[in-house]
Amino acid sequence: MTERNQISRSSTPTAGAPGTPMEQGRSELTPEAKAALSHPNKPDTGSLGTPTLGARVDPEQDQTAAADAVRDMFSSIAPRYDLLNHVLSLNVDRYWWWRTARRFRHILRRGDAHVLDLCCGTGDMTLALYRQAGVGGASIVGADFAHPMLCRAVRKSVGLPLQWVEADALQMPFADCRFHLVTSAFGFRNLANYEAGLREIHRVLAADGEVAILDFGEPRGLPGKLYRFYFRRVLPAIGSLISGTRGPYAYLPASVARFPQPQEMLALMKASGFREAAYTPYTFGVAGVYWGRK
Ligand SMILES: C[S@@+](CC[C@H](N)C(=O)[O-])C[C@H]1O[C@@H](n2cnc3c(N)ncnc32)[C@H](O)[C@@H]1O
Repeated sequence: MTERNQISRSSTPTAGAPGTPMEQGRSELTPEAKAALSHPNKPDTGSLGTPTLGARVDPEQDQTAAADAVRDMFSSIAPRYDLLNHVLSLNVDRYWWWRTARRFRHILRRGDAHVLDLCCGTGDMTLALYRQAGVGGASIVGADFAHPMLCRAVRKSVGLPLQWVEADALQMPFADCRFHLVTSAFGFRNLANYEAGLREIHRVLAADGEVAILDFGEPRGLPGKLYRFYFRRVLPAIGSLISGTRGPYAYLPASVARFPQPQEMLALMKASGFREAAYTPYTFGVAGVYWGRK
């Protein structure tokens, strides 16, 4: 394992390099992470259609409590996360990550570019970015606040020049204007406050920097009906069966239903300071990318 291939952690923004070293290439889980894995999941089933500023099920819910519930949930499913992702998306997730990364080759192939993959989880989007960057390309950092998810990212990237940082997306330990590209795949939706998340992404982006938020959408028409049946009935059943816990796979469709519609999300991006914003649907709108430029 290279020196760079370790997890760093810092909770407050600094003017320097990301984070302070927490692990020296360790792939074992901390006692806290082990406890989280055996922790009974805090179900966050929500109620479809509840207006919310972020992943808070109840708009009155404290943001910290909402973030803690999300972190516990992802920590608890980390061991099965990749398997479930591929099974439940019928492997289309790999295509979405690849397609998103390929779009930013103009940044990724620059040796002087800095790229952040936010809410990186077990690192699949980060690895897709790295494949497009190639040797001599951009420096890439993956950040997430769920330690067990990051531990898996570390294991999947042994020998690669990737940096992993344990950090909260709403309070990142990165200097202003540090990154030329920030991506987030299926993570942004889980933030407790979308406006705060967008403002924080905007802060760490360099002038003209780009953001790409890949997430699920809700297709219309016949594909939409089929998709909703799969997403709300089949997926929670299979997800609960394989993961052994019901919460996360009930939470998933509820959180997608609560996520702003494209026009609303684009307006939020503009209000958060992005001078350009656009949406590209993927696969009949099952997923899509919000793109913005600072
Ligand atoms: C559905 S997973 C996506 C992981 C990965 N990007 C992928 O495409 O598979 C969402 C991730 O977002 C992370 N996350 C959610 N809220 C976060 C926050 N406030 N700060 C940092 N990470 C967060 C979770 O810990 C989880 O790993």
